[in-house]
Amino acid sequence: MTTDAVVRRPWLWPLFRRPIRAQFDRLASGWDAMRDPQHLVPFERALERIAGPVQDALDVGTGTGAGALAIARRFPGAAVVGIDVSSTMLDEARRHLSADLADQVTFRVGDAARLPFDSSTFDLVAHANMIPFLDEVARVLRPGGWTLFAFSSGAETPIYVNPGTLRQGLECRGFTEFAEIAAGRGTAILARRAQRH
Ligand SMILES: C[S@@+](CC[C@H](N)C(=O)[O-])C[C@H]1O[C@@H](n2cnc3c(N)ncnc32)[C@H](O)[C@@H]1O
Repeated sequence: MTTDAVVRRPWLWPLFRRPIRAQFDRLASGWDAMRDPQHLVPFERALERIAGPVQDALDVGTGTGAGALAIARRFPGAAVVGIDVSSTMLDEARRHLSADLADQVTFRVGDAARLPFDSSTFDLVAHANMIPFLDEVARVLRPGGWTLFAFSSGAETPIYVNPGTLRQGLECRGFTEFAEIAAGRGTAILARRAQRH
């Protein structure tokens, strides 16, 4: 319900921010134990479809950091930032950061509705099981950059946005080259920001 409301009316998000953050602060210590071991498969399949270099990447709503770490492994030359409203989730994420990725991945508190980055900062903005804020995605992506939205259990995912809604929202913000992916128990959509819009 929250996902649907915020996707349709992003200006409602400030009403939800505090309870959502509190919910994930509470869930943080048990989050990974609740995850299906295959939960990131659609996210990883979407990463594999990205053609071209990625130097700067953002994982939005990174939680305990699995998406950010997957990006770092897939693109060893990339600087990866994982952002989340819940500092407690990020404490868990930092615990998972192995020494070999410590120079490549950083985690910081921030809100997807108002990303603390300049325009045209990233080549990739990724989301796993996260409410999308498409104006911000379009703003922080470089022309030609990629965005992906993965849902670990497809339409059964508690935070889910159907591909038609995502595609419509992305098209009107100048995204092209869509791919819809089904993998494991989940789905993902990958899109590219046009070079010019
Ligand atoms: C369902 S969890 C997904 C976590 C992780 N991506 C995964 O798939 O395991 C959603 C995460 O997004 C964070 N979140 C929700 N709304 C957010 C927002 N507007 N900005 C940043 N993080 C947000 C929550 O705190 C939570 O950690």
